[in-house]
Amino acid sequence: MTNNKNYVTVSALAAYVGNEVTLSGWVWQLRSSGKILFLVIRDGTGQCQAVLEKTPEKTLLFDTLEHIGQESAIEITGNVRAEPRAPGGYELALGDGKLLHQAVDYPITPKEHGIEFLLKLRHLWLRSPRQTAIMRIRDTLIFAIREFFHNRGFTLVDTPIFAPSPGEGTQTLFEVDYFGEPMYLAQTGQLYLESAAMALRKVYCFGPTFRAEKSKTRRHLTEFWMVEPEVAFIDLNGLLELTEDFICYIVGQVLDKHRSDLEFLGRDVAKLENIRKPFVRLTYTEAVEILHGSRAEELLKNEQAQSEKKIAELETELAKAENEQTKATKSWQKDKLAAAIIQMRDQLADLREQVKNIPQHLELAKGFTWGKDLGGSDETIISKLHDRPVFVTHYPRMAKAFYMRQDRTNDRVVENFDLLAPEGVGEIIGGSAREEDLDRLLKRMQEDQLPVEPYQWYLDLRRYGSVPHGGFGLGIERTLGWLSGLKHIREAIAFPRMMGKVYP
Ligand code: 4AD
Ligand code: MG
Repeated sequence: MTNNKNYVTVSALAAYVGNEVTLSGWVWQLRSSGKILFLVIRDGTGQCQAVLEKTPEKTLLFDTLEHIGQESAIEITGNVRAEPRAPGGYELALGDGKLLHQAVDYPITPKEHGIEFLLKLRHLWLRSPRQTAIMRIRDTLIFAIREFFHNRGFTLVDTPIFAPSPGEGTQTLFEVDYFGEPMYLAQTGQLYLESAAMALRKVYCFGPTFRAEKSKTRRHLTEFWMVEPEVAFIDLNGLLELTEDFICYIVGQVLDKHRSDLEFLGRDVAKLENIRKPFVRLTYTEAVEILHGSRAEELLKNEQAQSEKKIAELETELAKAENEQTKATKSWQKDKLAAAIIQMRDQLADLREQVKNIPQHLELAKGFTWGKDLGGSDETIISKLHDRPVFVTHYPRMAKAFYMRQDRTNDRVVENFDLLAPEGVGEIIGGSAREEDLDRLLKRMQEDQLPVEPYQWYLDLRRYGSVPHGGFGLGIERTLGWLSGLKHIREAIAFPRMMGKVYP
């Protein structure tokens, strides 16, 4: 844009107090009393309030701005002043303004909307301050991950998305037609990464991952991003130590750079500040004992009592708000109450669902039999009983993938681990030492009835200089969901893909 205006962004306003600047962006909110107009512009870097008084010389400008719709594109010029009460801390005394594009009837109003509605409008919903905060944290998270591995001498190796054979079980494969041959979308880069680790010692891959997950839970997407490190000459203990350092680093970076975003999202930051080494270490067998024990039962019963109490309180509050709504006269009062009512109804639905599920979760925990993989509700219980991340190690061999290293002292279990994030979040990492012995690996593949031919290249790694090695995979959306305090990971990616959800 070439003229003599001083174009700046909202994020840079602090340096321009007392100066005239021009901001370009979109109208977030507009309020007018007929004499004075408050406009909040968002420009992608932040929000800034602009104020205009209707003086004789500003009448034309006032009348133009007064009727533009939410999300109209505009350019405004004015003097910057510090205003602690305004969002962002600065305010513009409006001198001039230009409408660039008029938006009429923007569908997402400042009122509260239901999740289904917002998901259909994901392409617009992304503009909301909540969604932009989440996307900024995601960016920092990914940057910190890359930084961590780069600083420790890991080499990034990109692994293929088209995979001719399953990497992580046959249950969740997306099959695609590859010139008439069946092919699968990658469930993991791990097997390829193991080859790269034998070439470069410490490697990692980072890319989109696909799982045909039929479960519609808060933790499952069909397309998600996973970072996977793989290291030659490492054992399970070395992997756990690497994981601790890794998690502490990314939590620290996110806390450092996004305190205000996290607070805006309603995240209890103290819970993240509490993330320190060493994490809790449990074997799978110990985890099962916890599920069978009295602490698990107490936890669930307490939760039930608390949720029931909260439901009763909310029901009273809701009835009150509904009653007030019928009496409200001003439209802003009605809008405010309507928003509160939607929020309370959502909360109530969540709580009722929780209470309904508790007996089932209790039954699953009590009746858990050694040998099964831990389920979502089991992980939740173990995670809630600790205020730090929990490693669960040594799962039953038959519950886990063929490539995991068998424990030489007890071959019913493997040298693997899941990392459960606290506060009930559950698994964010799965990893293991890999079976480096050719005969054991072949026997294990037989148990799973896996064909040997497609894996000959993978078996070669056990024929030529096989060494102990291992790695893990961290799901970006689950991790971001934990850090940002999201109820569901669908908000942790710009365009979520779930069963029955592919638009937009
Ligand atoms: O535990 P998983 O299946 O482990 C692997 O894929 C290994 N090959 C990784 C390795 O050792 N290199 O998946 C790893 C992580 C999970 O802990 C979870 O965070 C995430 O990937 N994940 C999902 N995230 C969202 N939606 C899904 N459907 C996910 N499935 C796994
Ligand atoms: Mg897993």
